[in-house]
Amino acid sequence: MKFFIDTADLDEIREAASWGVLSGVTTNPSLYARTGGRLADFEPHVVRICEACEGLPVSAESTAETTEGMVAEGRRLAALAPNVVVKLPVCEESLPACHALAAEGVRVNMTLVFSAPQALLAARAGARYVSPFVGRFDDVADDGLAQLETVVDAVRNYDYGWWDEEGGPEIIAASVRTPNHVTQAALMGADIATVPLAALRRCVRHPLTSEGLAKFAADWKKVTEG
Ligand code: G3P
Repeated sequence: MKFFIDTADLDEIREAASWGVLSGVTTNPSLYARTGGRLADFEPHVVRICEACEGLPVSAESTAETTEGMVAEGRRLAALAPNVVVKLPVCEESLPACHALAAEGVRVNMTLVFSAPQALLAARAGARYVSPFVGRFDDVADDGLAQLETVVDAVRNYDYGWWDEEGGPEIIAASVRTPNHVTQAALMGADIATVPLAALRRCVRHPLTSEGLAKFAADWKKVTEG
C-alpha cells in the first residue's frame, strides 16, 4: 500500500516526505482553509506543495459547481505543475468533467465517494484515482471499513481502459483516522491510504515499542554504568 498525506500544510508535507514513505499528497478546501490561506494564494500554494514533494501526485480540488466550470478550473489547476491531480467531488456535473479532463490526459481524483455505484461511475468516467471515505461513515454510526471493502471489491471486478499503463484507476482510502483503518484498508487491497500527519504518527507508534525501548535503555544503563 502507498501512503499519501492528507493535508495542505507545507511543514506537515515536508515532515512526512522526510520519513521516506510518501507517495503523494491530497488536499481539499477544508484542509486549505485550515492553513489560513486565502483565495489569492491558493494556486501559488498548490505550486509550493508540488515543489515540496518533488513530482509526487498532488490532488488540488476544484470548487466549481458546473461541468464547464470544473473543466475550466481543472485545466487551470493541471497547468500549475505536471504533478497536479484535479480533485472533483463525485456528482452528475463532475462525471462529464472527469471524462473530458481524462481525455486530455489530465489525472482526476474523484472524491466524496460513499458507495460502490459512485466509485464504478467515477472509474468508468476516467478517474485516475477514486477516493472512498472511511471515517465519515464511522462518524454517523456506520461501518466505514465495510463500506470501503464493498467499493474495493466492486471496482476490482472490471477493467476500465483508462490509465492502464499507470496501473489505474487506483483506490485511495480517504478519511482515514486510525492505524486499524490503515491495516484493514491494506488487507482488503486498497492501493493507497491518504492519512493526516497525526494519524501517520499513531501508525508509527506502539505502546509495546515504547515499553521495549525503555527496557533496552534501562538495561544498557546497567552495562555502561556497571
Ligand atoms: O481528503 C479527504 C478526506 O480524507 C477527508 O477526511 O477526516 O475530513 O473525513 P476527513
